[in-house]
Amino acid sequence: MKIQEKGVVVSNIEAARNLHFLEVRVPEITAQIVPGNFVSLLPPASSGVFLRRPFSVAGVHDGTLQLVIRDIGKGTHAITSLKKDDTIEVLGSLGNSYPTFEPDKKLWLLGGGTGIASLLFLHSIHNNPKDRILWGGKCSCELPEPTVLPSGCTLATDDGSCGECGNVVEVARRWLKTDKPDYIAACGPKGLLKGVQQLAAEYSIPAWISCEEFMACGMGACAGCAVPLAAGGYARVCADGPIFKAEEVLL
Ligand SMILES: Cc1cc2nc3c(=O)[nH]c(=O)nc-3n(C[C@H](O)[C@H](O)[C@H](O)COP(=O)(O)OP(=O)(O)OC[C@H]3O[C@@H](n4cnc5c(N)ncnc54)[C@H](O)[C@@H]3O)c2cc1C
Ligand code: FES
Repeated sequence: MKIQEKGVVVSNIEAARNLHFLEVRVPEITAQIVPGNFVSLLPPASSGVFLRRPFSVAGVHDGTLQLVIRDIGKGTHAITSLKKDDTIEVLGSLGNSYPTFEPDKKLWLLGGGTGIASLLFLHSIHNNPKDRILWGGKCSCELPEPTVLPSGCTLATDDGSCGECGNVVEVARRWLKTDKPDYIAACGPKGLLKGVQQLAAEYSIPAWISCEEFMACGMGACAGCAVPLAAGGYARVCADGPIFKAEEVLL
């Protein structure tokens, strides 16, 4: 059920350059959120942005929503400039969710940039110590200090400036020489999602991806977020997704 709630900012930490961990108290919305869902935030009116902006949920804790937001434009700049006790309008929960994975199955959670958000949430709920979570960025300046990450999380950078060297798909491919998950979940730029699609097909690993297409209405009404499907036709990321079986979507 979609609820509109006035959220109160509990904390806002810049964890890396332009990358914020934001906590917003919205008890009614958090009561129904599951991994894969997203919320829409209305930037403060002073920003001049009048359309809501979608963000995946990175976790919930005691009525508080956890978000990982990169400041890339007017809307995200206004949101990441919020201070403790400021208020913001939140709409949620939105979108579908990852499946419920059996507790004893091993997941690999492969995230690029802010695509890590929904995977952090999934990681906290699945809570299997055998799971591995990989968070990739171009360089160390894009990623937080390893000390703030949950256990089981590895960083990877294209330039090798921190964590494992290589993009997320290259690192996962190296891991596959000695290990194999039961399932993969992934979110990030299109190149990462394409690479995960190929990897999953090659190694016969069931995989799910979260698509973070541009959105306009965010409510299923305009088809602005449509993605082509392998079976023909289109799906709306905001209403039919954002989570799809990897092989379902044409990237
Ligand atoms: C389902 C979903 C979940 C998302 N989750 C997160 C999240 O957890 N954290 C996060 O930081 N962002 C997330 N995003 C992306 C976020 O919504 C956009 O970054 C935000 O709307 C940009 O608003 P803006 O006003 O700051 O930028 P704008 O001024 O609208 O755009 C600034 C620049 O960013 C580009 N841009 C805008 N949106 C996107 C996008 N979706 N993908 C790629 N480029 C884009 C524009 O082309 C432009 O060049 C998500 C998007 C979707 C659809
Ligand atoms: S953004 Fe309008 S249908 Fe998805």
